[in-house]
Amino acid sequence: MAVERSIAKRANWSSGFAFIMATLGCAVGLGNIWRFPYVMGQNGGALFLLMYILLTIFICSIPLLCELLLGKQMRRGVIRSYEKINKKFGIFGWLCFITSIFIPCFYFVVGGWTVNYIWIYLTNNVPAGNQAEYFASFAAEPIVPLVMGIIFLLLCAAFPFRGVNKGIEQANNIIMPLFIVMLVFLAGTGLFLDNSIEGLKFMFAPDFSKFTFRTVLTALGQALFTLSVGMGCLVTYGSYLKKDSDIIKSSGLLILGNTIIAILAGIMIFPAVFSFNLEPSAGAGLVFITLPKVFAALPFGNIFGLMFFVLLFFAALTSGISLLEVSIAAILEKFKISRKLATVIMSSIILIFMLPTTWSFGPISNYKIFNMTFFEIMDFTASNILLPLNTLILCIVVGWILKPKMELLTNNVKFYNSFMFLLKFVVPPVLILLMLFGLNLV
Ligand code: PFF
Repeated sequence: MAVERSIAKRANWSSGFAFIMATLGCAVGLGNIWRFPYVMGQNGGALFLLMYILLTIFICSIPLLCELLLGKQMRRGVIRSYEKINKKFGIFGWLCFITSIFIPCFYFVVGGWTVNYIWIYLTNNVPAGNQAEYFASFAAEPIVPLVMGIIFLLLCAAFPFRGVNKGIEQANNIIMPLFIVMLVFLAGTGLFLDNSIEGLKFMFAPDFSKFTFRTVLTALGQALFTLSVGMGCLVTYGSYLKKDSDIIKSSGLLILGNTIIAILAGIMIFPAVFSFNLEPSAGAGLVFITLPKVFAALPFGNIFGLMFFVLLFFAALTSGISLLEVSIAAILEKFKISRKLATVIMSSIILIFMLPTTWSFGPISNYKIFNMTFFEIMDFTASNILLPLNTLILCIVVGWILKPKMELLTNNVKFYNSFMFLLKFVVPPVLILLMLFGLNLV
């Protein structure tokens, strides 16, 4: 009974600010701080940025709006929202549900690494020697990275466990403003380093030779991942919106905020990397290997290091909370169980899958399928197949079947018509292309 009532009386965000902080917390994550700067660096700097912005506005904003619209209209998690359109469409919700298990399985492992780095900076145990060696031997250990990953998982689960307002909303209301202040401070400090101009050039000066068709698709994939589109996160967060909320304004703020934060992350990282003559295109190792070298060379480097990893942890935590909330909200409604039980069930399932992803760097690194470790398989399947596929299904269902009424979105006819045109005829083929690219077929 209590469960039934809690579903009928759905939680609402207590203010527009709370909703923006929650969606920003969901979008801003490892994708902005760890991935965006180096992908941008590897793909032609300013040109990549321009492509990314255009694709975000004309392509990604469309499914982003669809997710919020679906959640706001149905007021249910992702499985029940699809089922409300048509009982048979529940399967599409389940696909999002599966994605919401796949992503945490690798995302939370990296989250665990951030916990480890906070710990070593806090306890003054930063390795003095070779950072790459330290990182490789830490990640290959069977126990420590797992314990760190579990700590990260428990911290993420603690907030949905407490509920939407008391848990998720409060966490984002406190963490996100703090995160922004820290990011602006660190980015500002980076600009005072010698040679910082080289870092800015690397980011912003266009390099046409690096620009190919693949760059466009890379920018699109990055934009979808970083805006958290394609898994039902925004359906779930949108379902806690009040009836009269303006989702177009919120989407605009979300896109703007997320892009500014990604650029600031680059400004925080590259001037520092260039000041110390380090390799900027180090890829995934940039954050855990290259940056500790920078901190080791800086005055008060340990304090900067600690701040940076707390910042990275905050970004991962607020995204982790949203990743968990998708599956928790979905099974809570579907099976009419309590929020607390749903949190325990989902955390346990994710924990089981985290074992092989964590050990992909050590004990089982030789076990490969299609030449990929378990960690790489989860990342590849989620980012290259499931996210674009779910987004494609979402666009087709909303554009061709649900056909949202104009009043639900806007009172501007031109805007509505352009939105429907992009949704029905432009975004789906672009997403198909992205999937083919992800599968190495184009
Ligand atoms: N947007 C997050 C990031 O950039 O790190 C990752 C993410 C969260 C992806 C939630 C998808 C999602 F549904």
